[in-house]
Amino acid sequence: MECFTYRRNELFAEDVPVAELARQYDTPLYVYSRSGMQAQYRALASAMAEVGPHIHFAVKSNSSAAVISLFAEEGAGADVVSAGEIFRAMRAGIDPAKIVFAGVGKTEFEIDYALEQGIHFFTVESEPELERLSKRAAAVSGVARVAIRVNPDVDPKTHKYTSTGKKESKFGVDLERALKAYELAARLPHLEIVGIHMHIGSPLMSVAPYEQALEKVLPVCDVLKKRYPTFRILDIGGGLGIKYTEEETPFDVKEFARRLTPMLKQSGLEIGMEPGRFLVGNAGILLTRVQYIKDNPFKKFVVVDGAMNDLIRPALYEAYHGVLPARKTEATILGDVVGPVCESGDFLARDRELPAVKQGDLLAIQSAGAYAFAMSSSYNSRPRAAEVMVHGERSQLIRARETWQDIVRGECIPNW
Ligand SMILES: Cc1ncc(COP(=O)(O)O)c(C=O)c1O
Repeated sequence: MECFTYRRNELFAEDVPVAELARQYDTPLYVYSRSGMQAQYRALASAMAEVGPHIHFAVKSNSSAAVISLFAEEGAGADVVSAGEIFRAMRAGIDPAKIVFAGVGKTEFEIDYALEQGIHFFTVESEPELERLSKRAAAVSGVARVAIRVNPDVDPKTHKYTSTGKKESKFGVDLERALKAYELAARLPHLEIVGIHMHIGSPLMSVAPYEQALEKVLPVCDVLKKRYPTFRILDIGGGLGIKYTEEETPFDVKEFARRLTPMLKQSGLEIGMEPGRFLVGNAGILLTRVQYIKDNPFKKFVVVDGAMNDLIRPALYEAYHGVLPARKTEATILGDVVGPVCESGDFLARDRELPAVKQGDLLAIQSAGAYAFAMSSSYNSRPRAAEVMVHGERSQLIRARETWQDIVRGECIPNW
């Protein structure tokens, strides 16, 4: 569904003019469409209905309580990468029995916390982690359920920083070593082998890398099923892409389901998924107000009040985010949208044909529902933005704008 549309040349978030949101909550402001997120979840669940996967929302993509709780209401679990995310997920209403915990660096403290809460399983990324889990389970809960993350060495054809399933990646265990890792897991006390996990990268725009990965992983599953009677889950991770540019076609979830369903059903295993971006990415915008139009002999800069501390994806991944004016205009200018942070990497759009805006106008940075606020910081002592959720004609502040006091909380000056 389209969450952000023009009505009589005014940009709306569902049924609310974004200009009204900026007036009420100030800028920079993250705006999320509740129906947009819900529609994506339902589209995925219905496309995959024949497989009936356990859908674990990847909390790292958008960890706001209101967002997590909306997926909890839909019946989702959570994919987490830290104890902090377990805390967040449970606080927002996710049943700990539906939490899966990935990440290459789980500390003893994090493992103990996860065991105490009774999470579903750990996605184990290395042999030393198996050993640590076994010891901590002996001390805390008696048993830790584990699925080993395998690295199927396929190229997801995405940015090198978000490609996670290639040989040289820090994630998972090489497929060739996987059986040995399972043998270790079986030898260690207090571990229950429940499944296998893969996550090859993000965002993926085609189904082919999933097929390639499954072709390698499914034969390993067959061996594991025979060896370990408790082995029952195949978690295929997340990574389903979204449309960032005009030229891209939206990720075809029906095609994804059509091509993968036969393979997944044939595995005879329970299927897990961990989508993040697909569920929330296009259901969010970052609203920002133009402060200055600045020219130099080479370029035009639209200087806005949002910056790389609010949305780091352009600087970090050279990511493209569409830019829409709150009031539609046909006239365009060529230039960059930049923020006030003291870094040349502080841009939200570069060398673009932009709407011809002027000081005081509002711009919407598109596709800002995933890895956007969640990756924001208070760099340059800029309070982190507020977040608002829109539901039809209603809007609600779901996170207050940070204050200067919030920023300095916990700091002190030594008295020596
Ligand atoms: C293990 C794991 N699962 C799921 C995800 C979610 O990916 P996406 O938001 O692209 O669906 C990630 C993203 O980094 C991940 O590392």
